[in-house]
Amino acid sequence: MNEPRITLQRIAAMKARGEPIAMVTAYDASMARLVDEAGVPMILVGDSLGQVMLGYDSTIPVTLDDMVRATAAVVRGSRRALIVADMPFMTYRIDVPTAARNAARLLQEGGAQAVKVEGGRAVAPIVEKLSDSGVPVMGHLGFIPQSVHRLGGPRVQGRDEATAETLRQDALALEAAGAFSIVLELMPGELAAQITADLEIPTIGIGAGVDCDGQVQVLHDLLGLLPDFHPKHARAYADLATTIREAVQRYVRDVEDRSFPSDKETFTSVQRVSTGDADS
Ligand code: KIV
Repeated sequence: MNEPRITLQRIAAMKARGEPIAMVTAYDASMARLVDEAGVPMILVGDSLGQVMLGYDSTIPVTLDDMVRATAAVVRGSRRALIVADMPFMTYRIDVPTAARNAARLLQEGGAQAVKVEGGRAVAPIVEKLSDSGVPVMGHLGFIPQSVHRLGGPRVQGRDEATAETLRQDALALEAAGAFSIVLELMPGELAAQITADLEIPTIGIGAGVDCDGQVQVLHDLLGLLPDFHPKHARAYADLATTIREAVQRYVRDVEDRSFPSDKETFTSVQRVSTGDADS
């Protein structure tokens, strides 16, 4: 029997025990399988899919259909992690019924266990309605990528006392509205530590220092898949851009000099005994 997926209650218990929570993004079934097998308790189907998978320069063009499809793929590829799906730009801020309808698609068609929305007190009524309706919600404060134009780019937020206090109040409002966790993105480590201490629900940082209850990273940053993009808050644990480029170059060379395919990779008219899967 399959082990059941990680629950919200297990994530809450991790905070209570002071156990750091690792989260990473995924957007397709094959990567979801690998990160799930690696043991991450939470996978975020982030709308960063817009930049890393679809080639947009922000998350703004990402549609609900894009997110539903990616979420369903990640759910199919994984078994154990709790799956959180981003609600894309303007799919939850127009009014509560629209937000509820759109969140329902991510759970019913996508198979997510929870959704993530960006913003503070302005989205608290939506968080409350979704939570009351049985849709677990993760908040997102600090630099909120769907507001990139208003914020003037990916800038650290909450550096002065007034904006820091706004973010603290926003975090309390999201918790009171029923959010089960909050992503804190690009803010001073001291502020993220204060917010984390203020809250009973776990904070998940990205560019918010080591004192958050957990960390989230965009998979492509973690794997070194974006050769021209090295954000200060990310650590590349591999250089897959180089690995992939070199592997494909070797393949091209082998095709060009006819060393691929070899006899081993070629079918014959007479079936041979083999341990390979596709022998006939
Ligand atoms: O879309 C995303 O990947 C995110 C993370 C940056 C937290 O929201």
